Amino acid sequence: MGKKITIVDFKNAKKKDKKLTVLTAYDYPTAKIMDEAGVDAILVGDSLGMVVLGYEDTTKVTMNDMVHHIKAVTRGAKRALVIGDMPFLSYHTGKYESVKNAGRLVSEGGCTAVKLEGGAAVIEDIKAIISAGIPVMGHLGYTPQSIHVFGGHKAQGKDLDTAKRILEDALLLQSAGVFSIVLECVPYKLAGYISSRLDIPTISIGSGAECDGQVLVYHDIVGLIREFSPKHAKIYTDMGTGLFETVKQYIAEVENGIFPTKENSYKIDEQILEQLRSGRECE
Ligand code: KIV
Repeated sequence: MGKKITIVDFKNAKKKDKKLTVLTAYDYPTAKIMDEAGVDAILVGDSLGMVVLGYEDTTKVTMNDMVHHIKAVTRGAKRALVIGDMPFLSYHTGKYESVKNAGRLVSEGGCTAVKLEGGAAVIEDIKAIISAGIPVMGHLGYTPQSIHVFGGHKAQGKDLDTAKRILEDALLLQSAGVFSIVLECVPYKLAGYISSRLDIPTISIGSGAECDGQVLVYHDIVGLIREFSPKHAKIYTDMGTGLFETVKQYIAEVENGIFPTKENSYKIDEQILEQLRSGRECE
């Protein structure tokens, strides 16, 4: 295990032109494998709501859901920076609640940093959380918790007004002290321009190769959501099909008496069995 990655390493990576790698995870074994494979950071995203809990969007995810899954991930990740996502409405009802909720993710969940969506509208919350000693990652462009405001999953920043707002928000977040910003579904040339205007690293999800790093949802790189694969993702291993075929084979083997074999079963001394049988005959 190498040295634990910190937010300072994140900032230095940009200076050294080293691309940052981030993946989402929601449980212990996945986090452990990603950590051992050498990913820079693991985001316990509120995408949890869709890919693990089966909700339609992220708005039903609670603080308790996040704490529960962050705990599992931090048990598995020894080297990667673990970032916990602040769920819907956990940082919109006043600075006190924002700091308290961010603090729960760190003290109960065990993550090092938190991520939250939005720019100017949540800047006071971001400043308060950072003042409490908790590193914050920003998230601009398409921000999934505002799905109903956007009217669906849509790329953001295609016209001058929204492009300008994303750039201004990015500069504002940087001056507030965030250590990095996720840019989601922003046109890649705009994302590249914003990245060139910032000293802190930008992490793309659907915002192209000109950002300083990439993040993808774990289920999207292994094809676990079989009915849908987002345009920005790439399936590296089709575990969805693999799991489907595995389950089919298991069912067939159990039904046909192929599994389990003696090798999968425990033995008992024949004498003990004999004693048991003869005892029963005496009853
Ligand atoms: O919740 C999540 O997984 C995220 C990523 C899409 C960046 O916020």
